[in-house]
Amino acid sequence: MATSKNPAPIASDSPDKAVFGKNLGFAASEAYRLLRTNVMFSLPIDAEHKCRVIGITSANAGEGKSTTALNLAYMLAEARQQTILVEADMRLPTISKRLGLKQSPGLSNVLVGLTSKVIAQPSGIEDYLKVITSGDIPPNPSELLGSAKMKTLVDVLSKNADFIVIDLPPINEVADALVVSQFVDGMLMIVRHNYASRHAVIDAMKQLEHANAKVLGFVVTGSENFIKGKYKYKKYGKYGKYGKYGKYGRSHNYGYAQAVVDENPGQVDVEI
Ligand SMILES: Nc1ncnc2c1ncn2[C@@H]1O[C@H](COP(=O)(O)OP(=O)(O)OP(=O)(O)O)[C@@H](O)[C@H]1O
Ligand SMILES: [Mg+2]
Repeated sequence: MATSKNPAPIASDSPDKAVFGKNLGFAASEAYRLLRTNVMFSLPIDAEHKCRVIGITSANAGEGKSTTALNLAYMLAEARQQTILVEADMRLPTISKRLGLKQSPGLSNVLVGLTSKVIAQPSGIEDYLKVITSGDIPPNPSELLGSAKMKTLVDVLSKNADFIVIDLPPINEVADALVVSQFVDGMLMIVRHNYASRHAVIDAMKQLEHANAKVLGFVVTGSENFIKGKYKYKKYGKYGKYGKYGKYGRSHNYGYAQAVVDENPGQVDVEI
């Protein structure tokens, strides 16, 4: 693990479609299948607890969270587990883009109460995999994600799936992953080789511990095999993304100026 404090950001806004699903090479597929097995064993089911909810996060931006979330969800679906992938990184949603799905309406629209129906869209890559896209980008994702409505939504989804995989922003940048950790059975920490500093990972782990989150384990990304294979990633992109999050507060394409958090746990219907 490198020790640099400020890793150069890695671009994740380029839609590199090669790095998921059927397009994965043999070694990468096997690695994600192993991850699937480990996740299944670390969260056994019982009579009351049939659905397992997994949050995916990391210390820094660009460590491979969304790619891991997508591939883990794909592998679970491949094993005929009804899986719902939730694009809960409302700040930098990339999953809808990668899958070519309509981003909005989605999660944020339900959480503010603009609609009571959340639509789990077919992923287009695996029958057992459905996707809830992020919705319009709100100015206050942390509040929305920590709301009573979010809990209701996760509960409702749990009745309709074997696994829910939630793609989240990085811990050391924003509070979103911490607030969602209260609604999940376990968190997976993505750590990018030669990129995340020991210091940053320790900081993130301390915050998760403080939030009483259960950490299922670590997934190391960017290892030699993956990079040498077909899926070279474009590293060191230009953007300072998460540091500029304030800008979303001024977003104009957002359908509801105030984005008032609907604290009423209310009712959420799901269309699968
Ligand atoms: N296991 C891996 N090995 C090598 N490269 C990877 C791996 N997983 C993802 N990548 C590449 O790293 C880049 C960032 O990936 P991704 O968008 O999944 O990260 P992220 O953590 O979700 O980023 P962000 O914090 O911006 O949401 C992409 O170019 C992706 O192809
Ligand atoms: Mg991401």
